[in-house]
Amino acid sequence: MFQKVLLFQILISAAICSRGLRNTVSTTFIKQTTTGTITSEIPVSTRNDKVELTVYYETLCPASVDFFVTQLKPTVKRLTEHLDVHLIPYGHAKTFRSRGRYFFDCQHGRRECFANMVHACAIDVLRNNTHSIFFNSCLMQYISYQSNYDYFVSVVSWCGYTEKVHIAEIWKCVKGLRGNILLKKYGDATHELSPSYVPYLMINGSTQHQDEASSDLLGTVCRILNPKPKACRS
Ligand SMILES: *[C@@H]1O[C@H](CO)[C@@H](O)[C@H](O)[C@H]1NC(C)=O
Ligand SMILES: *[C@@H]1O[C@H](CO)[C@@H](O)[C@H](O)[C@H]1NC(C)=O
Repeated sequence: MFQKVLLFQILISAAICSRGLRNTVSTTFIKQTTTGTITSEIPVSTRNDKVELTVYYETLCPASVDFFVTQLKPTVKRLTEHLDVHLIPYGHAKTFRSRGRYFFDCQHGRRECFANMVHACAIDVLRNNTHSIFFNSCLMQYISYQSNYDYFVSVVSWCGYTEKVHIAEIWKCVKGLRGNILLKKYGDATHELSPSYVPYLMINGSTQHQDEASSDLLGTVCRILNPKPKACRS
């Protein structure tokens, strides 16, 4: 029964969050120059004990939520010192410019644009990948596209409390120009790649491990790491 429900959810999520048919994209190396000041520059790792993962996603997409909660967070928890994760919260959104400001149109509506911006601001304010993954993962776990604004605000407070995040700074970013600029930059990075579905995963700048990583991130990262750290052996 559980498996049936899960399968159903996966089918629904695929239907909601893909932009056209899922096809194999064979991009190998992507320049991240447009992300400039937002994500630190992403050179191909030169060390053997670190895997670089870039996650393109949108906050209200059930498949993205599922990836954060069941794959990303547990993997980061175990292998934090072997991962260099970059979050790109934008997905299938559109950016418009009007009177010196950017406006966004998101796949799951205005709530999603708002939640994407909260994620972007959390990444910016915390400046600690592990911490922002835990906080953003908490947000994703408790909100859905049915959540109203007041509920969303209370979830931000709750996650701030459980993950020890100073949310006042995040609200300041969301309400000010900073959040607007951050989301625009993530939009540029996403449009450059134009993923046909989310979550879209790049490992060391390649999509080669996309499929295995979306359903077994820990196993995938462990297969790539050499030598295998202790956390991969237990
Ligand atoms: C990622 O980079 C590390 C370090 O150079 C390397 O050991 C690993 O094999 C690379 N993984 C992939 C998938 O290219
Ligand atoms: C980053 O955040 C994690 C999780 O909250 C924490 O354990 C770690 O000490 C932080 N790293 C730095 C450099 O502050």
